[in-house]
Amino acid sequence: MAGIYLHIPFCVQRCSYCDFYSSTSLELKDKFIKACGNEIKSRKDYLADSVADTIYFGGGTPSVLHPEDIDKLLNIIVKHIGVSKDTEISFEANPDDLNPAYLKELKSVGVNRLSIGIQSFRDSDLLKMKRRHNAKQAVKCLEDADKAGFNDLSIDLIYGLPDLSVDQWLFNLRQIEYFEVNHLSAYHLTIEKGTVFSRWLQEGKIKEAEDENSLKQFQLLQKYTREQGFDQYEISNFAKDEQYSKHNCKYWKAEKYIGLGPSAHSFNGEARHWNQSDLMNYLSDFKSDNKKSSSVIREEILSPFDKRNELIMTSLRTKWGITKGEWEERQHLQSWDDFVLEVRPFIAKGDMIQNDQCLRIEEKSWFRADGIIASLFRLEGL
Ligand SMILES: C[S@@+](CC[C@H](N)C(=O)[O-])C[C@H]1O[C@@H](n2cnc3c(N)ncnc32)[C@H](O)[C@@H]1O
Ligand code: SF4
Repeated sequence: MAGIYLHIPFCVQRCSYCDFYSSTSLELKDKFIKACGNEIKSRKDYLADSVADTIYFGGGTPSVLHPEDIDKLLNIIVKHIGVSKDTEISFEANPDDLNPAYLKELKSVGVNRLSIGIQSFRDSDLLKMKRRHNAKQAVKCLEDADKAGFNDLSIDLIYGLPDLSVDQWLFNLRQIEYFEVNHLSAYHLTIEKGTVFSRWLQEGKIKEAEDENSLKQFQLLQKYTREQGFDQYEISNFAKDEQYSKHNCKYWKAEKYIGLGPSAHSFNGEARHWNQSDLMNYLSDFKSDNKKSSSVIREEILSPFDKRNELIMTSLRTKWGITKGEWEERQHLQSWDDFVLEVRPFIAKGDMIQNDQCLRIEEKSWFRADGIIASLFRLEGL
């Protein structure tokens, strides 16, 4: 089964930590909907025979669009690409865009999974992050989403913020208990180049969280979510009752997906394709209903080393790890037995575990996962 990602390239204002591609020229929304419709038609064969069972509206800010626009795009997808009957349709929303009427319409056009960018329930964090919403709005939108009948409700939180204490992080986590949230994405802050946080860091206005504090916050996140019945199925993702994000699992399991919109990328099983990150060029690429249009500026055909490294990078971030079957199916450079031999020092240290025909990183060592994974990458010589 395949996935469909739509990048909605608009934000009302830029948050101080974020480097995802978006434009604040909201007056271009109508032109974008038209162009995106044309892109769907011109790339309808990208997934070949695979049927899609997930659609993900991400951004940018999908919730700056009217539900009618979402409906238009969904209809074009159904008509030209085709999707299975029980498709997961996820939608990223910013709290202050949501109200009971909007949520009701969103549900009526078929959105069945809502992911709300709460980030924090504390006003001082939200101000620092230059979010549009405040803590009161964060609470209100979750109440409204529940009343609107969104049973699949996910929230995003960020920890490891400058000056965020462990107690303040615990306060944020505790707010989850009051709502019917069955999925949580909790990311440690990354200070990205070109963002306001990166400028503040250079100017000495903020300091990065200390490693010890970050580790404590991660451990608290693991402990708290476990107590609340969440299952940590990926380093930053937690689900109750196996309500995993089906769409995001496709990235980790190397299933095919098509990415539509500026900056989106696609994977057809053998190669990745990147759309250019430029709204004006995108609008001009898909101005007309021309079957040959494309906004792809980069193609990367995966080498045997890329396939091996990607498998390690994505699988070892999940609770499922890598199975012998996947290893033999998805990469052909190294035998399973040699790989098991290679990771033996990590097993000996208790960072990794081998169960039956499966290797995975121990939950207690997930904080170090990036380092372990990077040390297993190879560019040559196997
Ligand atoms: C690209 S945003 C889109 C969602 C939506 N526009 C919003 O702001 O809620 C997806 C999520 O990525 C996370 N994120 C983005 N930049 C990040 C960063 N530099 N560090 C940690 N998390 C980040 C945030 O939690 C955010 O909700
Ligand atoms: S976090 Fe969301 S709203 Fe903020 S700049 Fe990034 S995409 Fe836009």
